[in-house]
Amino acid sequence: MELKGLILSGGKGTRLRPLTHTRAKQLIPIAGKPNLFYALEDLVAAGIRDIGVILSPETGDEVRAALGDGSSWGVHLTYIVQEAPLGIAHAVKTARPFLGEHPFVLYLGDNLLSGGIQHLVAEYRATRPAAIVLLCPVEDPRAFGVVVLNGQGEVVRLLEKPQEPPSNLALVGVYLFSPAIHPIIEGLRPSGRGEYEITEAIQGLVDSGQKVVAHQVRGWWKDTGKPEDLLDANRLALSAIARRIEGELIEAQVVGEVVVEPGARIVRSTVRGPAFIGAGALIEDSFIGPYTAIGKNAQVVLSEVEYSILMDEARVHALPHRLDSSILGQGVVVDGRGSPRRNTLQLVLGDRSRVRL
Ligand code: TTP
Repeated sequence: MELKGLILSGGKGTRLRPLTHTRAKQLIPIAGKPNLFYALEDLVAAGIRDIGVILSPETGDEVRAALGDGSSWGVHLTYIVQEAPLGIAHAVKTARPFLGEHPFVLYLGDNLLSGGIQHLVAEYRATRPAAIVLLCPVEDPRAFGVVVLNGQGEVVRLLEKPQEPPSNLALVGVYLFSPAIHPIIEGLRPSGRGEYEITEAIQGLVDSGQKVVAHQVRGWWKDTGKPEDLLDANRLALSAIARRIEGELIEAQVVGEVVVEPGARIVRSTVRGPAFIGAGALIEDSFIGPYTAIGKNAQVVLSEVEYSILMDEARVHALPHRLDSSILGQGVVVDGRGSPRRNTLQLVLGDRSRVRL
């Protein structure tokens, strides 16, 4: 049977508050594009056309509005509401009527992979194991599912967020499963933190002697659970963009890999790439430094911004010093007119906040 896709776009997003008070974390833009779109596009590139999307009751409507029926990507989307965020395995269980007996790719909607999944899908089709999981060495594995391999590179043990990690191999949020995962999920009990853990379900496959293949990720992987991860993902995604100037440059210096979308205006300003300036944005008498993404219709006037994400319609005016490593939600206004100079300014502001410095 053909592989289906399942994208998880539910959850609570507590670690990204205040940004997630008002929006799904999977819709936060990375290099000008919602995180979720990258997941969807990886599935599409791997030839998967029948895709389920797990939603939470709180943010489901905006996710539906962003993705529509999938026809912009040439795919068919089925929306599935998970009433409570009881864990990744619980989300799979909720999607069971959609998945049926099809094998599937499970893709967490806040994960980003530079290498895509085409090679994994091809391998799955050729070899049909019970599961293929992806691993990435990380410095501090305590926040992740952690995997222990034996000498032959086979998965022996999986642990969810261990206090004393037995290896540095984190489980990436992209998995390929055969329908053999379902009876194991049916038998799961909630973990110590009250969730149905996908790591325990994969452990169940291993324990019952089924084949679980593990590969290290190609290129980079990012789980955008925390603000610093969003900024890092933005940096990595911007590193891959190619120069494209469709907006207007007026006495502007635009250096390197910079996207200026249609209707954007750069006036008496310098933009040093890699950077993304969204449609209709205005950059005036300002400096935009590397690894910055400016949303649609946002404005930066008499200010310096670097290594930051400004979402759509955000506005900064006359900042007393360079805004660095910051994330401004949609419609945020930061006005520094008349305030004394400071050395640095680092802000993470939820949608529509207003700050007068
Ligand atoms: P997590 O980042 O583990 O959980 P979360 O979104 O609740 O965030 P936080 O820990 O900050 O409160 O979730 C990984 C991805 O899976 C994310 O895209 C949300 C999604 N998810 C669901 O769709 N359903 C769930 O029950 C859970 C736990 C997560």
